[in-house]
This record gives sequence, C-alpha cells and structure tokens, in this order.
Amino acid sequence: MQNKEKLTKEFELLKQIKRDKLPFHIAIIMDGNGRWARKRGLPRIAGHKKGMDTLIEMVTCAHELGIRALSLYAFSTENWKRPSLEVEFLMRLPEEYLKKELARLMEKNIKIRAAGDLSQLPQRTRDAMEKALIETAGNTGMVLNFAVNYGARSEIVRAFKKILSLVQEGRYQEDDITEELLSRHLYTSNLPDPDLLIRPSGEVRISNFMLWQLAYTELWFTKTLWPDFKREHFYRAIVDYQGRERRFGSIKKKVRSSI
Ligand code: IPE
Ligand code: IPE
Ligand code: MG
Repeated sequence: MQNKEKLTKEFELLKQIKRDKLPFHIAIIMDGNGRWARKRGLPRIAGHKKGMDTLIEMVTCAHELGIRALSLYAFSTENWKRPSLEVEFLMRLPEEYLKKELARLMEKNIKIRAAGDLSQLPQRTRDAMEKALIETAGNTGMVLNFAVNYGARSEIVRAFKKILSLVQEGRYQEDDITEELLSRHLYTSNLPDPDLLIRPSGEVRISNFMLWQLAYTELWFTKTLWPDFKREHFYRAIVDYQGRERRFGSIKKKVRSSI
C-alpha cells in the first residue's frame, strides 16, 4: 500500500473511534514473529527483533489514544520448549527494550507491571525488569503490563496456593474464598480484566493467556503477523470492539425494556 493511502486509511479509522467508549484494558498476544522471518528467509530471531519495533509503536499508539492499561504477552511458560538459542535471544529483549525505551516511558508517565514468574528468568533479564518496575512504580499514567514467563494455569495454581496458606494461617475462612479474592491473588490484581484481546498471526486460540481474566473479554483476531501489525490494525480492533454489544450474560438493553 502506498504511504499516503495507508495514512488515509489509518486516519479514517481513527476518526471512527469513540473517545468516550475506549476499552480500558487491552491485551495483545504478540504472535507471528517466526513466520514473518521464515517468509523472508531470515532466522526466527530477526522476526523477534522486528516484533519489538511493533511493540514500541503500539505502546506509543495506545498511550496517544488514552488507553489506560495494555498487557503484552511476551513469553509463555511453554516457550521454554523452544531451541535454546531462540530462548536466549528472547531473554535479552526486555533488557534491550528497557535500555532503549525506559526514559520515554518515564516521560509518558507509564507504569510498568509484570505478570509471570520472574524468579525463573536469567539474572540480567530479571534485574532489567525489576529496575523498570521500581523506576516506574510512582507513575500514574497508562499501565504497561508485560507477561513474561507467564502461564495462566500456573498463575491460578499459584493464587490457589497463596490462598490456601492464608486459610491455614487463619487469615481467611472458607466463606471468604470468592471470585474477587482469587482475582486479587493473580498477577493482574487491581487491574480490571481486559476489555479487548487482540491476537495477530492467524492463530485462533488463547495459548494459556489470562484464562481467568478473559471470561468476558471481546476477542479480535487478524491474520496479519505481529511484525506487520500497524496502527491501522489497532484502530480497526477498537472500532470493531465499539460496535459490539457486551451483555455479560444478560440480554440486550432494548429487549429488556420491551418486556
Ligand atoms: C511470538 O512469535 C513471539 C513469542 C512467542 C515469544 P512466534 O515466535 O510464536 O512466531 P510464530 O508463531 O512461530 O510465527
Ligand atoms: C503465545 O504464542 C505466546 C506468546 C505470544 C508470548 P505461541 O506461539 O507460543 O503460541 P502457540 O504455540 O502458537 O499456541
Ligand atoms: Mg507463535
């Protein structure tokens, strides 16, 4: 697509976004880096590198729009199964990203959060992430939540174990165990559930991401691979989201008033 055409399309979509109905929390499964590289005869890591450019662009885009929370699935508990060279490369990315972007995140008042077991990460990766968590802790703008070494099932098991120990200490009774309590013991505690989940790359699955939190999230899929994902796709996802009616198990408002 010509640059001008692309910008026009982007602008048209941007105009359609209703600013008073923005999704509060958007989650993205950043997928398709490997296939992007393979299509170009490049090593998979070249796809991850390009994927980081998309990540930087989408953080800017979400911030500019006024999105309040953005969760990005960067590395799953299952991704350790990949060849060690690829894993090593992926583990270097948080450090590289933060070195490049932390100052800009501070300027934008963005607060970094992490979801996942950071204790299992290589020391350097962990140090870089923890430094960013501390530095941005006082920021009050958009929350940027990185899911690294994250798996929803292990997150739920972890929450369960924590609650069990609190029950054993006598801090909670059986009746205190509610959905709200469990939510509070997940990595996303105090963060509202995602309103919108975006998954690029053509895969139509959740891949162990936020299984609990996605109960009523609107899902949006595109065949575009993450390194090719642009503002245009982000805007399109939001426009589509705003055109949907979220019923949360109830019935349409109009139908309700006619009963
Ligand atoms: C997403 O891209 C990045 C991570 C999972 C870390 P992939 O590496 O899964 O790319 P594909 O799915 O093989 O194309
Ligand atoms: C999901 O992508 C994990 C991340 C994007 C970090 P995967 O590529 O690992 O998922 P599957 O294997 O296609 O389900
Ligand atoms: Mg993948």
